[in-house]
Amino acid sequence: MAKLITGGTGFVGAELARTLAARGEKIILFDLHPNRNRLEGIEEKVQVVLGDLKVGAEVFNVVRDHQIEGIYHLGSMLSAPSDANPWASFQVNVQGTLHVLEAARLFGVKKVVFASTVGTYGLGTTGVVNDETLQRPITMYGCGKLYCELLGRFYHRKFGLDFRSVRYPAVIGPGVRTPGVAQYNAWMIEYAFLQRPFECDVTGEAKIPVMYFKDAAHCTDLVYRAEKEKVRTVNYNVRGVTPARTARELEAVVKKHIPGAKITYRPKPEVMVFFETLRLEEIDDRRAREEWVWQPLYADLEKVVTDFIEEMRLHPRRYGLAAPLS
Ligand SMILES: NC(=O)c1ccc[n+]([C@@H]2O[C@H](COP(=O)([O-])OP(=O)(O)OC[C@H]3O[C@@H](n4cnc5c(N)ncnc54)[C@H](O)[C@@H]3O)[C@@H](O)[C@H]2O)c1
Repeated sequence: MAKLITGGTGFVGAELARTLAARGEKIILFDLHPNRNRLEGIEEKVQVVLGDLKVGAEVFNVVRDHQIEGIYHLGSMLSAPSDANPWASFQVNVQGTLHVLEAARLFGVKKVVFASTVGTYGLGTTGVVNDETLQRPITMYGCGKLYCELLGRFYHRKFGLDFRSVRYPAVIGPGVRTPGVAQYNAWMIEYAFLQRPFECDVTGEAKIPVMYFKDAAHCTDLVYRAEKEKVRTVNYNVRGVTPARTARELEAVVKKHIPGAKITYRPKPEVMVFFETLRLEEIDDRRAREEWVWQPLYADLEKVVTDFIEEMRLHPRRYGLAAPLS
């Protein structure tokens, strides 16, 4: 029996694959655009299957052919591309998830874990969000993810499928090229490391909850392994860096490591509008902490920046960076 990670060569998927491979699990990575660099060091331990979540038969085939016992469903279009092409986003994120759930139902998969997002919160969201906060997303991405959280819950009720999900905050780590409203966090660190000037597209006071990519993989692994009777809330908030920090605070931490970093601010109105609509300051993840003992390993921003820089220094190929600068 094997585990399947959809979007398995992506930013979080490959890190999760690394965790599972270290435990000796048999893993299949299903991806439309495999990024093999990210699999550096585990190439021999995983199998990559090319496939498209939009095509039901391709999802069914991979689940049937590899005797999949559990699925980590991470394959997705992210927020900015989803807003740019909502029609494609519907097919990948919504219909693709239906295909995964159907494959699980038809081929007897025991468990499905789904990667959701704090982007499922939106209108009227201020301050702290908890698992009871009304989810009224304002983006195509958030709408699709919320639907899938609820669809998974329906599959549990109707078909007894063991479905769980985690709502990541903005995930940061090296080597991400997809633009997004929170991407300045990662790029500020990456550009400084590469000794390139960085122009931040938000104000210095902008703040958004972030999670280090290793913690995203970690909570996904943990929720999968949680005992069934402990999983009562089903769809969970998870927090990362706490408290959330402003861009200027991140700059100060980066400059402790790289004093010569050149960071300037030129806020873009189309980015700032997001921060003005979603005034999300902190994530209350009490349910995850209580039900399956979740604790981020990287709650401290200093620890995130230190590890982020070390990862880029040690594994430039993995993150698609130029040769490391000494
Ligand atoms: N990165 C974030 O800030 C963030 C925040 C909240 C939730 N999430 C969720 O976490 C999960 C992982 O995100 P990530 O940051 O690793 O993104 P990513 O873009 O690095 O990974 C997604 C993977 O899905 C694959 N994919 C896209 N369309 C596909 C399709 N039609 N068929 C098969 N594969 C397809 C991509 O090739 C990619 O490898 C996603 O579900 C995402 O929505 C991410």
